[in-house]
Amino acid sequence: MSFEITGRGLLWEAIQQKEDYPIFRLTYLSKPVKPFTDADLDDIESKSVEANNARDVTGLLIVHGDRILQMIEGREKAVRELYAKIEVDSRHTITKMVSAAEDEERFLMNWSMVVRDITRVPTDLFEQYEKIFDAMQQSEKHTDITIDHFELFKALSLLGALPL
Ligand SMILES: Cc1cc2nc3c(=O)[nH]c(=O)nc-3n(C[C@H](O)[C@H](O)[C@H](O)COP(=O)(O)O)c2cc1C
Repeated sequence: MSFEITGRGLLWEAIQQKEDYPIFRLTYLSKPVKPFTDADLDDIESKSVEANNARDVTGLLIVHGDRILQMIEGREKAVRELYAKIEVDSRHTITKMVSAAEDEERFLMNWSMVVRDITRVPTDLFEQYEKIFDAMQQSEKHTDITIDHFELFKALSLLGALPL
């Protein structure tokens, strides 16, 4: 039986690996102080994977020009402590806290921190990202992260990893 990465697929993955504590998920937007190079992203990714694993934090970081989106999830204390470090990192400026809330499921298990520059992914996908990013940035309220957002962000992260 083939298994598509759909909303149901994501839910199934989550049910299989339910945590014994509530998951806290935080999503923010930021912009780089100067454009990130591949070396900058490699540096963030290599350091984050180990540090996040140690904290039982998972997440993804999508970089597209001036539009940076990061999602981190885990125990609330661990997520807030990590965010406090990221917030004062002089390589970027946080422009919006999109949402910070408890959830029953971890959606990014096994993603210690996937860091992707998505400029080379198919145009329609990064246009979707730009649209969602700009709507979140302009929204007066917190935005709920939906399964559709997860699907897009995961697809962007995976496609961003493929060689041209
Ligand atoms: C956009 C962005 C995302 C980051 N994401 C993480 C992350 O997920 N995990 C992490 O440990 N550090 C991340 N960092 C690096 C932290 O800001 C910080 O440099 C790191 O936690 C090291 O802090 P320490 O030396 O005080 O332990 C990120 C930095 C930037 C600019």
